Amino acid sequence: MTYRIAVIGAGPSGLYAAAALLTSGEPVSIEVLDRLPAPYGLVRYGVAPDHVKMKSVIRVLQKPFDPADVEFLGGVRIGDGGIPLDELRTHFHAIVHATGSSLDRALGVPGEDLAGSYGSGEFVSWYCGHPDFTGLDPELDHPGVAVVGAGNVALDVARVLAKSAEEMAATDIPGPVLDALRSSAVRDVHVLIRRGPQHVRFTPAELRQIGDLADAQVVVHDDGLLAAGVEEPDDRRQKQNLGMLTEWVDRPVGDAERRIHLRFLRSPVRVLGDGRVSGIVVERTAVDASGRVVGTGEEETLDVGLVVRAIGYAGEPIPGLPFDEATGTVPNEGGRVVADGVAVPGAYVTGWIKRGPTGVIGTNKGDAQETVAALLADLPTLPPPARPEPEALREAFAAHGIRPVDWTSWLRLDAEEVRRGGLRGAERVKVAELAEMLDAAHGATTTP
Ligand SMILES: Cc1cc2nc3c(=O)[nH]c(=O)nc-3n(C[C@H](O)[C@H](O)[C@H](O)COP(=O)(O)OP(=O)(O)OC[C@H]3O[C@@H](n4cnc5c(N)ncnc54)[C@H](O)[C@@H]3O)c2cc1C
Ligand SMILES: NC(=O)c1ccc[n+]([C@@H]2O[C@H](COP(=O)([O-])OP(=O)(O)OC[C@H]3O[C@@H](n4cnc5c(N)ncnc54)[C@H](OP(=O)(O)O)[C@@H]3O)[C@@H](O)[C@H]2O)c1
Repeated sequence: MTYRIAVIGAGPSGLYAAAALLTSGEPVSIEVLDRLPAPYGLVRYGVAPDHVKMKSVIRVLQKPFDPADVEFLGGVRIGDGGIPLDELRTHFHAIVHATGSSLDRALGVPGEDLAGSYGSGEFVSWYCGHPDFTGLDPELDHPGVAVVGAGNVALDVARVLAKSAEEMAATDIPGPVLDALRSSAVRDVHVLIRRGPQHVRFTPAELRQIGDLADAQVVVHDDGLLAAGVEEPDDRRQKQNLGMLTEWVDRPVGDAERRIHLRFLRSPVRVLGDGRVSGIVVERTAVDASGRVVGTGEEETLDVGLVVRAIGYAGEPIPGLPFDEATGTVPNEGGRVVADGVAVPGAYVTGWIKRGPTGVIGTNKGDAQETVAALLADLPTLPPPARPEPEALREAFAAHGIRPVDWTSWLRLDAEEVRRGGLRGAERVKVAELAEMLDAAHGATTTP
């Protein structure tokens, strides 16, 4: 007997899970479904466009599809607006949920819903050419921007805004995004960090990059903390960060075209604006003995026309699957989905939807292997599905009006992007509009 297994989500965790299932030697057939016509999740729609080397992990992630051992079914959403999970369950012995954390967390301050205020999920999706965000058209017409957060995503956003359009032209960003960056009025990017320089979560390599930009300078605003001496962190990375920041604090402000201001011990309390963002009020903070951030009551206003909060993400619940609203994840034990402490037969999770929105691409490999080990141990006990025949799944797609993008079709879209890249001197240029993606994938005529 062959066990039919569906992986929902073709991001790193889903593809590492598919690879682990494939190499297990067990009699399994694997289908990877994704709501988008393109695979790779945040590697395609999160990893910064100028991190070209990082994106080469795709060569590893695509392996299960190459000899067509695993089937890719793009453009298939599970849950609201797509195939209900209960229906999908009738086709598979087991389902591995690898849907990531796509929702932006809110700051909970007045004014954050104004036009010109975005979550990093939306903003990054826009510059990465995600089909759901092509119409975002963010307000880049003002010199000041606030980016909230002290993680790598905050640095990505600050760097993309501070780089010149010429530098970004060599990346895969879609033409309209490049045009928007070309006419950008942004000059001062204020990164609002609620803790001190010894606490930031940046990885040193990412921090170093903003110090090496061709035409943008880092300005450290630390209220004299570094000169006075801060407590040396135990963490090796935080130590390296601190070393870099200490070196930068004394750099004279030059005449670079743009500046990235690292503003420590500052937390937003209000976004100002009448209809759209015109400023942000920040409160000076302190970190108490227990490591908690506390407000001092001292406020200042920054003149900004755009606010991007890079403060983390939450998963999107799928009807029929247990969900923990507080953590934005699916409750699980070692990858087995649990409801009220009891394992749900045939339901597994991996990646950000399993453990929350932290960790680099490679972190998902071990995570997926743990989930797959649990699934393989359960194989003999899994209840057989009602409609295991592959044709039954095709019939279900047809009944829902879905024409999946298979691997061959994705390769057609991929080739079209590489062709467009050639016209701009880039490795590829993304096709972002959904209709254009589907046309290219299904072999309809495309325009340059
Ligand atoms: C902005 C940003 C930049 C990053 N940059 C780096 C970096 O440079 N280097 C690094 O190592 N790590 C980076 N990371 C972290 C890395 O991207 C994550 O660790 C990793 O992508 C998590 O993998 P995942 O498979 O859990 O989720 P995702 O990559 O989000 O994949 C989830 C997939 O599920 C699909 N999906 C969602 N809902 C459904 C549904 N209902 N039906 C069908 N399909 C669905 C999505 O379309 C997506 O393809 C970055 C993260 C972010 C947010
Ligand atoms: N190149 C890369 O390797 C790369 C690039 C991008 C992302 N990633 C990875 O992807 C994961 C997600 O990155 P991320 O940057 O989204 O998350 P992150 O590293 O968890 O950082 C989130 C930041 O938001 C801050 N924050 C949270 N709530 C806040 C609030 N209410 N007000 C002000 N600040 C608030 C946090 O501050 P506190 O520290 O005070 O809690 C933290 O600094 C991370 O593991 C990251 O390393 C890697």
